[in-house]
Amino acid sequence: MTTTTASTPTAEDDELPGPQGQGTGSDPGDVFDRDVLPAPPGATAALLRSLLAPLRARAVVTTLLLLLQQAAVQVGPLLVAYAIDSAVPAFREHRHGPLIAVGVGYLLCALASGVLQFAFIEASARVSQDVLLDLRGRIFRHAQALSVDFHERYTSGRLISRSTTDVESLRELLNDGLQELVTVVLSFVYISAMLLWLDLSLGAVAVASFVPLYLLVRVYQRRAGRVYRARSTAIAAVIVKFVETMNGVRPVRAFRREAANDAEFAVLNRRHERTNGDALLEMARYVVGSRLVANTAVAGIVLWGAYRVASGSLALGVLAAAVLYLRRLYDPIDRLGMFLNSYQSAAASLEKVAGLLAQTPSVPEPAVPGELPPLKGDFPGREVVFDGVRFGYRTGGEVLPRFDLTLPAGQTVAVVGATGAGKSTLAKLLARFYDPSEGRVLLDGVDLRELPVPELRRGVVMVTQEAFLFSGTVADNIAIGRPDATREDIERAAKAIGAHEFISALPDGYDTDVRKRGGRISAGQRQLVAFARALLADPAVLILDEATSSLDIPGERAVQRAMSTVLRGRTAVVIAHRLSTVEIADRVLVMEHGRIVEDGRPEELIGGTGRFADLHRAWRDSLA
Ligand SMILES: Nc1ncnc2c1ncn2[C@@H]1O[C@H](COP(=O)(O)OP(=O)(O)O)[C@@H](O)[C@H]1O
Ligand SMILES: [Mg+2]
Repeated sequence: MTTTTASTPTAEDDELPGPQGQGTGSDPGDVFDRDVLPAPPGATAALLRSLLAPLRARAVVTTLLLLLQQAAVQVGPLLVAYAIDSAVPAFREHRHGPLIAVGVGYLLCALASGVLQFAFIEASARVSQDVLLDLRGRIFRHAQALSVDFHERYTSGRLISRSTTDVESLRELLNDGLQELVTVVLSFVYISAMLLWLDLSLGAVAVASFVPLYLLVRVYQRRAGRVYRARSTAIAAVIVKFVETMNGVRPVRAFRREAANDAEFAVLNRRHERTNGDALLEMARYVVGSRLVANTAVAGIVLWGAYRVASGSLALGVLAAAVLYLRRLYDPIDRLGMFLNSYQSAAASLEKVAGLLAQTPSVPEPAVPGELPPLKGDFPGREVVFDGVRFGYRTGGEVLPRFDLTLPAGQTVAVVGATGAGKSTLAKLLARFYDPSEGRVLLDGVDLRELPVPELRRGVVMVTQEAFLFSGTVADNIAIGRPDATREDIERAAKAIGAHEFISALPDGYDTDVRKRGGRISAGQRQLVAFARALLADPAVLILDEATSSLDIPGERAVQRAMSTVLRGRTAVVIAHRLSTVEIADRVLVMEHGRIVEDGRPEELIGGTGRFADLHRAWRDSLA
């Protein structure tokens, strides 16, 4: 087991969101488990309140508009009653005024209701747009601020689902659902009042029918709540699977995972379809039930009303108005179902969003920021100290049992050791992707936890083999660590690292768009861009975690020559993939199971009898 450093370069990259893990298809149960994150009680309601709070005044205006609109609509049947009982008899006696008044009045009400409805739709759309803008922004900012370990557990597919489907279901609630609810409540109030005023006993029958309707709504709400939560979890799982598979499309191809992925996707897709069917079924039961209650009530009122008209105790116009009102009363009940639907989806979605927003960064910004002392001497390096550091990932055992290490400012240290020894973990602690569970990591005597994030990002830069490129030009990508860099600065960095030639040969040179994930640029070229980026950022501490592993031997040699310029005066941690890299180091550390087992100058260790001497000999032999 001495030739580990010559193992395949991509087999253990922990920076990637685990393409192997996705490709081999974790069981869909995982996805479900982690979809709703724990949030403090009342977080969902608090989120909704905080979203609506700045819009309260406009929400009140919007509701008022709807109130007026309903008033205009509900006058109609009264006018009909008046027409039948008074205006038509008057017309027969050649008094035309009342009937004309009824006609004009009806027209005016219709006009007013139209205008008010338009105003309402506009106002409510504005309110909901603002809420969504706010919510999407919050999700993005919050997710971006969360620490690396959060993103390792909560995948990007899930985040996409939060900011698309979940935001969308809130939009539906705000745009249509609330309107339905207010309309329904208002028409119940208006119409009951009208009916009771027109005729007490007819009104009483209508009001009595509210009891079974209310029970029906309660049952529906409870059952639909369950169904809708399942449905929203199911659609999220579909999106997650989709995004993760497409993100890992290369390993999917390489390992012929297509058929297995198809099967897994089909399961999730069907699960979503089934929950959709359940939701429709609940809705259908509700609609049929409520129609039954409504029609029974109408039949009762028509019978009772007709009997009273015949016996002369009720005017025909009043009965006509009552029946018209009843139709209007029971119409909105279907819409109440719609509201409950959108309410349930939105509640399920908001619950998930609230859970996401309740997460706090496990690597928080310092409350009281510390300050780095001025640089000693004229070189950029700073001293690094691991002081009694212990660390383990949430999902595994302890990786660094107790780690002490001092790197003097300006020293170049090569770290070698078997895969899984903890080299990358060491690097990530130094870049503060994680905080140690015990002990401290110090930069010139200042705990990394006390450094403001911008200081830290300027102080410590890590280049990994992933060498991620953002969409934009090559120049943009190099300048990420120093946005104010001039074109000369950028080119100087690229030249120093030996990237200038290939960049100049690109179609638009430095202005070539790398597209997403650097589609047009090879892995080795991406690494060169990443080196240039790190060099331009001019950090005190530079970490190279197997950063030359995608380069061919000549490419690596070229980078190594450049490296002596790049690393000069900086503190550097070079996690070496090929032992040739070690030659530029002042010091070599051999790691095993999270411990340093050898520590010395390269010549010393090579000449000795320890593990490094073995490693080096095996490596030499492999070259021969
Ligand atoms: N993100 C992670 N979550 C859980 N365990 C991890 C993670 N990254 C690494 N590990 C585990 O920590 C140990 C050390 O890993 P690492 O530091 O990447 O080793 P090296 O870089 O030396 O190959 C390994 O056992 C690995 O499985
Ligand atoms: Mg590693």
